Amino acid sequence: MTQQQPKIVLVRGDITEQQVDAVVNAANSSLLGGGGVDGAIHRRGGPAILAECRDLRASHYGKGLPTGQAVATTAGHLPAGHVIHTVGPVWSREQDRSDLLASCYRESLRVARELGAGTVAFPAISTGIYGWPMDDGARIAVHTVRAEAGPPVAEVRFVLFDDRAYEEFAAVLAAEG
Ligand code: AR6
Repeated sequence: MTQQQPKIVLVRGDITEQQVDAVVNAANSSLLGGGGVDGAIHRRGGPAILAECRDLRASHYGKGLPTGQAVATTAGHLPAGHVIHTVGPVWSREQDRSDLLASCYRESLRVARELGAGTVAFPAISTGIYGWPMDDGARIAVHTVRAEAGPPVAEVRFVLFDDRAYEEFAAVLAAEG
């Protein structure tokens, strides 16, 4: 029996406003907040998320969450059910870190399945402060989600902050039918 493919949806907007079972945070290894998506999630989600992140650091990730891995907390005041924190790679011209970026999507989906999440919202991981080119980031995101997502995840929503990001993701989806 073939596995049911989830619906892939593109939204132009703010990930902190998504009413989904899990939103993915483009975090850093410290799990203690930062700018971009990470800053917005902690600002709008409130201190409960940060408190859980501190506990996770103390209990499991003394040296920080490694790049490409993912871990869940509750979502505080966000409309989402959970936050899945993942650490994207910093873009490098010298070194191909695509596997690590793919790992962020794969591991986040694995955590989403463990949570029993039906709907998951992703930002374009690594394409902001970490400098990944948007066209390549979109390609890796869509390919990995297509390859890895399955029940109970029925919808994967890419939440794109600006027109450029939206257009790059739309182009990848259109190219692949
Ligand atoms: N909703 C959706 N997308 C957003 C939002 C938002 N509220 N805000 C920004 N974006 P970034 P990274 C887009 O920088 O590149 C933090 O300091 C943004 O335009 O959030 O993985 C962390 O602590 C870009 O396309 O994440 C790390 O240190 C994409 O989301 C570092 O930044 C990702 O941008 C992680 O850098």
